[in-house]
Amino acid sequence: MKIDPATLDRKSAHDVMVGVALPRPIAFISTAGENGIYNLAPYSFFIPLSAKPAIVGVGIGRKRDGSKKDTLVNIEFSRDFVINVVTESLAEAMNQTSGEYPPEVDEFQVAKLTPEKADLVKAPMVAESPVRMECRLLQILEYGEFPSIHNFVIGEVIRVHVKDEFWADGEIQSSRLKTIGRMGGDSYCRMTNIFEMKRPVIPPKK
Ligand SMILES: Cc1cc2nc3c(=O)[nH]c(=O)nc-3n(C[C@H](O)[C@H](O)[C@H](O)COP(=O)(O)O)c2cc1C
Repeated sequence: MKIDPATLDRKSAHDVMVGVALPRPIAFISTAGENGIYNLAPYSFFIPLSAKPAIVGVGIGRKRDGSKKDTLVNIEFSRDFVINVVTESLAEAMNQTSGEYPPEVDEFQVAKLTPEKADLVKAPMVAESPVRMECRLLQILEYGEFPSIHNFVIGEVIRVHVKDEFWADGEIQSSRLKTIGRMGGDSYCRMTNIFEMKRPVIPPKK
């Protein structure tokens, strides 16, 4: 099978592209709107791009009618956002917030999650998430043609909040976090069956 994504309709292209990177981490993004209403939604076209500077990227598509998703509208307004890590215990709440609610709906209330004031940005953090990243907007790129436009939002992580029980020896204890990953369709995976590999030392030690 050979596929040229540009020749596919929006849904088929989406199905192909969610199958090429598995599993994907989920950025549970909280933002504050111009109307003062908080917004929360999951985004799995998400990747940390570099460590120092600490840069992250998120791909935000359009609503079915081609209009901007609330997360993008809010980021354009406040120029900041928070990425909350999604654990197994937050999975159901995260899924609830992925509905296409109108901008006046506060998805913290929909998902029964608690907004917590961030230190440096206007966007609130999800109190229940063990790791939260306060991000400052750096750049928004735009690709595609209406209604199939995609924006790539690039941000700098300016503060990371890690709950004490998940921090030891100068690192986040990632295996304790029980994060979930997004597969294709409606499938997710758990962080079980982790294995380690030592990287080669070149030239090899004698
Ligand atoms: C696990 C998961 C991952 C998602 N990833 C993305 C994504 O990367 N980009 C995107 O545009 N929509 C993604 N969505 C869909 C959005 O969450 C959905 O369109 C949501 O209504 C957007 O909300 P907002 O308008 O409040 O920003 C995802 C949904 C789920 C359940």
